Amino acid sequence: KKVVLAYSGGLDTSIILKWLQTEYNCEVVTFTADLGQGEELEPARKKAELLGIKPENIFIEDVREEFVRDFVFPMFRANALYEGLYLLGTSIARPLISKRLVEIAAETGADAVAHGATGKGNDQVRFELAAYALNPDIKVIAPWREWDLSSRTKLIEFAEQHQIPIATDKRGEAPFSVDANLLHTSSEGKVLEDPGVEAPDYVYQRTVHPEDAPDEPEMVEIGFEAGDAVSINGEAMSPATILTKLNELGGKHGCGRLDLVEGRFVGMKSRGIYETPGGTLLLEAHRGIESITLDRGAAHLKDELMPKYAELIYNGFWYSPEREMLQALIDESQKHVTGTVRLKLYKGSARTVARWSDHSLYSEAHVTFEEDAGAYDQTDAAGFIQLNALRLKLLAARDKRLKS
Ligand code: ARG
Ligand code: SIN
Repeated sequence: KKVVLAYSGGLDTSIILKWLQTEYNCEVVTFTADLGQGEELEPARKKAELLGIKPENIFIEDVREEFVRDFVFPMFRANALYEGLYLLGTSIARPLISKRLVEIAAETGADAVAHGATGKGNDQVRFELAAYALNPDIKVIAPWREWDLSSRTKLIEFAEQHQIPIATDKRGEAPFSVDANLLHTSSEGKVLEDPGVEAPDYVYQRTVHPEDAPDEPEMVEIGFEAGDAVSINGEAMSPATILTKLNELGGKHGCGRLDLVEGRFVGMKSRGIYETPGGTLLLEAHRGIESITLDRGAAHLKDELMPKYAELIYNGFWYSPEREMLQALIDESQKHVTGTVRLKLYKGSARTVARWSDHSLYSEAHVTFEEDAGAYDQTDAAGFIQLNALRLKLLAARDKRLKS
């Protein structure tokens, strides 16, 4: 039996690794992805070796470009927000991890994949729906749902028994759970569990407190082509480089902090602190460029479908026909979403202050309050209003008749 484990190199997944070897009698293959979480990956290799993983069974990959190009950017074409606020930073990374787990299983002749998500959350659903969608015969092992290591004490005991190195700050109760990648950092649990209590400052990891951000605003220009960001301040950059740069700018100005109570797919509500600095700038700028390049009918239709699209990603249905159908519709809408947006960053806010495009539908000739040289005939509006008012007048006349 052979299993591919999504391995971070941290204490919990190291315990899972050992547990798979000792309790499940599996040969373990580890997959560690650089998704831009800002951690060195070589220590994960060292640790996997130390725990007895053969070098050919250790997979460490930089997937940052693929993550942004094939997952984050397609999602941002939709302006996706779950429950109106959440930019889906964790949700969008899971399908990519699962895809690589399934591919590595095929390459190494493994019949199972394993992950470190708990039985209470969304992530187990996302990992597993994606894995089954890509390989209907794959087996999934979710140790958190199976083992009896139900307390921190038992976990630490197990680690000590099996010579798993434990950082001294990990001996006690972890203060909260963190998931990070190029798009966001999310923190949940423990000190954050009471939604009636404000999150302590030390929870925030990649944005400054808006009050402590620079007193001078900063401008940034984001160039778009067919719905995707392609340049910053006139300089062309790769997708991951753009998001990295936007994270720096947004983090410095305290942009993209969110304290949210959300409805998990499994039924309960949870409270999380999110930091999505670059993504917050990207959403604002994308809406800015869409505002001049998208037709109203197209724009309103994709906005109506957006909550459905966001929910599919949140619930783990990235690899589903309905997500792909919506993606095709959204992508079709983006053909002319090309141009540049200038954002002003200042103490936690990122606002569009200017936008321009060769593909613009904005017509100053039509909208101007000045003389418009015959572009628009204002007398046309009178009949337009009369016909639109017809049903409202008939309704009002009925109500007037019934009242008298
Ligand atoms: N609630 C977020 C989601 O479902 C984040 C979950 C993972 N975050 C964490 N800190 N463990 O997408
Ligand atoms: C977990 O429970 O593993 C993290 C939180 C979530 O998946 O929603």
